[in-house]
Amino acid sequence: MRLDRFLSETTPLTRSLAKRVLKNGEVTLNGEPIKQSATQVDTQNDEVKLNGETLALVGLRYLMMHKPLEVECTARRGLYPRVIDLIDLPKVERLQPVGRLDVDTTGLLLLTDDGQWSHRVTSPRHRCAKVYIAELAEPMEGSAAEWAINQVEEGLLLDGEETPTQPAVLRFITPQQAELTITEGRYHQVKRMFAALGNHVNALHRRSIGDVVLPDDLAPGEWRELTPEEIASF
Ligand code: URA
Repeated sequence: MRLDRFLSETTPLTRSLAKRVLKNGEVTLNGEPIKQSATQVDTQNDEVKLNGETLALVGLRYLMMHKPLEVECTARRGLYPRVIDLIDLPKVERLQPVGRLDVDTTGLLLLTDDGQWSHRVTSPRHRCAKVYIAELAEPMEGSAAEWAINQVEEGLLLDGEETPTQPAVLRFITPQQAELTITEGRYHQVKRMFAALGNHVNALHRRSIGDVVLPDDLAPGEWRELTPEEIASF
C-alpha cells in the first residue's frame, strides 16, 4: 500500500494532508524519516510512525447497538443524530448499518465495514429471521387475531407492490402487542404489513437478527463488539 494511503487509512488525515505531513518530515518508516508519498508499505511487517506514534490499520469491525428513538441510520447528517455519532471509534464513518431501522424504531442494529458479511445478513436469499415487537393501535384478538396470523403466514400484498411478502410468523403477546418474525427487509416492512392487516404500529422494536439477540443489559444508545461466535453465526 502507498504510504500516503496508509496514512489516510490509519489517521483522520486526508490524502493531501498526508502528503503534507510526509513533506514536513513528520513520518518515519522502520525508523528512517521518509518523504515520498509513493513509497510502498508492507502493512504486515513495516512500522510507520507519525510524530513518534506507531500507526496501525483498523481491521474489519462488527458491532451491535441498541438503537434508541430519534437517531437515524443514514450516513448523511440530517434532522436527527446518526447512529455512528454514538460510536466513539476511529474511522467510524466506514461502519454501515446492516439493514436499517426507522428513526422511530428501537432495538438491535448491527454495523460493520465488511460488505460481504453485511450481504449475507441482509440478502433475502439467506432468509435470516428478524424478530420485531410491535405495539398496535387496535387490539386484535379471537378470530381477528387468527385471521391476521393466517394472512401473515400466507404472505401479504403490501401497498404498491406486486409480489406478496414471504411467509412470516405472527404471535400475539397481548391483543395490542405482537411479535412478528420476517425473513426479508422491504422498505418499512413491518409497519406496512400491519397496515395491510388494517392496523397501525404505534411503536416498533427489533429484538433479534438470526441467532443474535439484543442483550437486556445493553441500554438504548449503547453498543458493543460482536463476539466471534455471533459474527460466525451468519
Ligand atoms: N420495519 C419497519 O416498518 N420499520 C423498521 O424500522 C424495521 C422494519
